[in-house]
Amino acid sequence: MNPYRVLPIFTPEKVEEYRNRNFYELSPHIYALADEAYRSLRDQDKDQCILITGESGAGKTEASKLVMSYVAAVCGKGQEVNKVKEQLLQSNPVLEAFGNAKTVRNDNSSRFGKYMDIEFDFKGDPLGGVISNYLLEKSRVVKQPRGERNFHIFYQLLSGASDDTLKKLKLDRDFSKYNYLSLDSAVVNGLDDAANFRTVKNAMQIVGFMEDEVQSVLELVAAVLKLGDIEFKPESRCNGTDESRIKDKNDLKEMCELLGIEQSVLERAFSYRTVEARLEKVSTTLNVAQAYYARDALAKNLYSRLFSWLVTRINESIKAQTKARHKVMGVLDIYGFEIFEDGDNSFEQFIINYCNEKLQQIFIELTLREEQEEYVREGIEWTNIEYFNNAIICDLIENHQNGILAMLDEECLRPGTVTDETFLDKLNTICAEHQHFESRLSKNSKFLTDHSLPHNCFRIQHYAGKVLYRVEGFVDKNNDLLYRDLSQAMYKANHSLIKQLFPEGNPAKVNLKRPPTAGFQFRASVGTLMKNLQTKNPNYIRCIKPNDKKASHIFTDSLVCHQVRYLGLMENVRVRRAGYAFRQAYEPCLERYKMLCKRTWPHWRGPAREGVEVLMADLPVPAEEFSFGRSKIFIRNPRTLFFLEERRRQCLQDLATLIQKIYRGWKCRSHFLLLKKSQIVVAAWYRRYAQEKKYQKIKSATTVVQSYTRGWQARKLLRELKYQKRCEEAVTTISAFWHGTQARMELRRLKQEARNKQAVTVIWAYWQGTKVRREYRKFFRANAGKKIYDFTIQRIMQKYFLGLKSTMPSMSPIDKSWPARPYRFLDGVHRELPRIFHLWRCKKYRSQFTEEKKAVYEEKLEASEIFKDKKALYPSSVSQPFKGDYLEISKNPKYQKLNSAVDEKVLLADVVNKINRANGKGTARIFLLTKKSVVLADQKTGQVKASVPLPDLASVSVSTQSDGFFALRLKEGSASAVKGDFLLSSEHLIEIITKLHRTGATAADSEQLNVDISDEFLVQFKHDKVCVKFIQGAPKNGNSVSCKRKNNRLLEVSVPTTA
Ligand SMILES: Nc1ncnc2c1ncn2[C@@H]1O[C@H](COP(=O)(O)OP(=O)(O)O)[C@@H](O)[C@H]1O
Ligand SMILES: [Mg+2]
Repeated sequence: MNPYRVLPIFTPEKVEEYRNRNFYELSPHIYALADEAYRSLRDQDKDQCILITGESGAGKTEASKLVMSYVAAVCGKGQEVNKVKEQLLQSNPVLEAFGNAKTVRNDNSSRFGKYMDIEFDFKGDPLGGVISNYLLEKSRVVKQPRGERNFHIFYQLLSGASDDTLKKLKLDRDFSKYNYLSLDSAVVNGLDDAANFRTVKNAMQIVGFMEDEVQSVLELVAAVLKLGDIEFKPESRCNGTDESRIKDKNDLKEMCELLGIEQSVLERAFSYRTVEARLEKVSTTLNVAQAYYARDALAKNLYSRLFSWLVTRINESIKAQTKARHKVMGVLDIYGFEIFEDGDNSFEQFIINYCNEKLQQIFIELTLREEQEEYVREGIEWTNIEYFNNAIICDLIENHQNGILAMLDEECLRPGTVTDETFLDKLNTICAEHQHFESRLSKNSKFLTDHSLPHNCFRIQHYAGKVLYRVEGFVDKNNDLLYRDLSQAMYKANHSLIKQLFPEGNPAKVNLKRPPTAGFQFRASVGTLMKNLQTKNPNYIRCIKPNDKKASHIFTDSLVCHQVRYLGLMENVRVRRAGYAFRQAYEPCLERYKMLCKRTWPHWRGPAREGVEVLMADLPVPAEEFSFGRSKIFIRNPRTLFFLEERRRQCLQDLATLIQKIYRGWKCRSHFLLLKKSQIVVAAWYRRYAQEKKYQKIKSATTVVQSYTRGWQARKLLRELKYQKRCEEAVTTISAFWHGTQARMELRRLKQEARNKQAVTVIWAYWQGTKVRREYRKFFRANAGKKIYDFTIQRIMQKYFLGLKSTMPSMSPIDKSWPARPYRFLDGVHRELPRIFHLWRCKKYRSQFTEEKKAVYEEKLEASEIFKDKKALYPSSVSQPFKGDYLEISKNPKYQKLNSAVDEKVLLADVVNKINRANGKGTARIFLLTKKSVVLADQKTGQVKASVPLPDLASVSVSTQSDGFFALRLKEGSASAVKGDFLLSSEHLIEIITKLHRTGATAADSEQLNVDISDEFLVQFKHDKVCVKFIQGAPKNGNSVSCKRKNNRLLEVSVPTTA
């Protein structure tokens, strides 16, 4: 009910009060309905539409704004969402300024139909919207009924715009200057046009209009005002006809300047009309009436097209940005049912009322007819409730063959003279029989004398009452004719918006076809709207006005009764009371409420109906509260439904908690397991690291302690040894000195004795000689002395040689003895003789040798050449015979395989020790030497381990000491060198080396094998060169030779000193 005053029931507190509350819980309120619609949209995913109906001024537009503001208040928040909301809300002031006007019924009456789809995403946040507009009452632009105004924007512009703007638009603030503005009601109480103008400009900015777009729009509005001021005067032409001329060209000039149109073009368009037939163009002059008609048609078209452009432009701004599926809430606010009491209803009212008729129809369809039919269909017990179905009236208007609109179109398209009267005649003949059609001239005689029905009128019994329509202007308004000259003149304008508004003026796109009539267009768009509404879940707001005076506190019973009755509210209440508040097919019902019963949750296997029965039986709901239809369940009271919903909400909460609980548990557990696993890995790594550190510490500490003690021990030993050595040296020195002294004393004594003796002898001999010479001088001749001397010498020689014969040494070549020399002068002989004798003796000895023995001795000889005085081992080997084959390899069956593997004659076979490079330990190996190669074989199995051709041997290294180590050095690059040199040790070292040397020498293809004798030599093992070093070991280490690996590069062989 329109209170006609501001009530404190649309406050934010009220919004909170109604928010998320059940529909019947609180007293009826637009918010309750809006909340219900919004929640079903959001939660049940049903597109909604809110149909607002009622007479003009009943409060539909206000109600629609309240619905929108409520939805905006309760839906999501956020920067983007708020922007969308703001744009949706701000589209209202813009459209109201251009599409609303003061009428006698309503100071802010919508003069266009508006249907707005608000689009939401799945969360219920608004995404955008689409506005459809229906037939603007454009006749208002040029003429307003008494007591009414033109569209608000004209007044707003003139009162609200700044002087500057007005100047730019070439306007004057004075309303009275403009023919199109009615003056009697230009100022409306409680309507501040100037303030509203600012609101509109602000709203346009929020909605997203550009500065220049706003300017263009205002220019067009100004142009319409200017257009109204263009006046025409008749001018007689020579052919007697009147031709119109523009009275005062100033307004025309200004208007043309505003729109960028060439003045002459427009001027011509107001004076001539060009009719194009298929082939020819005929230009006729316009008389004054036609010129005024043309002017007004242009003004109306300009304005209505501007309005449609505004809607399109707003849609562009508010359309949803995402393509995602969205839910829709449609709000329909259409012009209300309208009757002018004095019968001044015209085409516009006819259209408006037709539209309301259709809305009533859809209401009846959905609430009364559909619902009752459904009960019958579903087999629910039902007593039919009668109601008035206005389908018959709709049919009267819109029937395709003989509906009023169809006939109007027919008249408009018909050739020949067509006037509003011919149209009325046609109606009279065709609709006369219709119960809801009344006309004075119809055949139905009952109206012949009805003086309330003028001749140029017809009356329709609408659902909301009888309306008398004056046919005047029907044809014209339906035709909605704009001379082509005018649209072409507009198209030529140098103004982008105007050009856009008159696309048909483009000479390139001349379309000779008539445009569809206004009635046809409207019927089509209403048809689409109805189809659209039927797809959505309807919610009704039925506005009722309490009085005709727009006054608060006045309640006219009859008026309200009338409205309640024709709106069908009584029948509606009856159906509602007897019927069921809610119905739903079994499947979705079971799907929605199955969680309320243990037996149906989570799955019900079986028919859905049985499931619902089980479900309802399980709930504490009295049986009369619901009925089971054929395919649906019917619930009588909203209370029950709310009860179900509440239970469902609780259950969903519990389920959500359960899901949350399980998910959280799972998440925590996986997190924990991960942590645990990681902790083990970390701990393991840390422990390893810590132990390693600890071990290293202990190791280094041990090494330090060890080195200290070893150092201490070594120093102690060294001190002892040094002391011992010093003692020994002292003893030796002392004894040497003492022996020296003794010896020198003895020597001096002996020398003295000898000198004494010699002196005695010489003295005696001289004396004897002198005595003898004195005695015998007288007997001898002068040369007798020499002869005696020679004789004596010869006699001594004879005696010497003869004596030698008996004292000759033995024939053994090793006998070194030789008889002593009797006289000094025989010294030379005595030296030469033993040599000659030895040579002779040796020859004798050799001559008795056999061939083998000779070879043996040759080898021995060679051995002596190689080793004598070079190696300490040599002397001990001299007496040992060289046996060669120590293993009796050819005879011993154990070595049969090995023997057969070696095809050459075996020169030497012996067991040697192969020194392991890693630790210096020896492994027994069979060593075979043939003429061509050296073979090493396993001692036990006799398997060949290595075979080295002699040419691959580069040299042999041995030490100077008494050990048996020798290294076979291979030639670099030879095939055998890959495995590295051999370090071996043998008891028969001398023999082996000698034989190797000999064999190497005799082999034709190799040069002499080098024998290096040194206490330090390099051996090339597989990868590295190792130095073998021989040292004199203390005898106390045992008598064996020991070999130790000292480090990577050094192998130390300690050889006991041979005492
Ligand atoms: N809920 C309301 N509270 C106060 N005034 C209202 C209310 N609804 C309507 N009116 C008054 O009634 C007038 C007409 O309402 P409106 O919605 O424009 O009617 P309709 O659109 O049905 O023609 C408004 O200008 C306002 O003064
Ligand atoms: Mg309205």
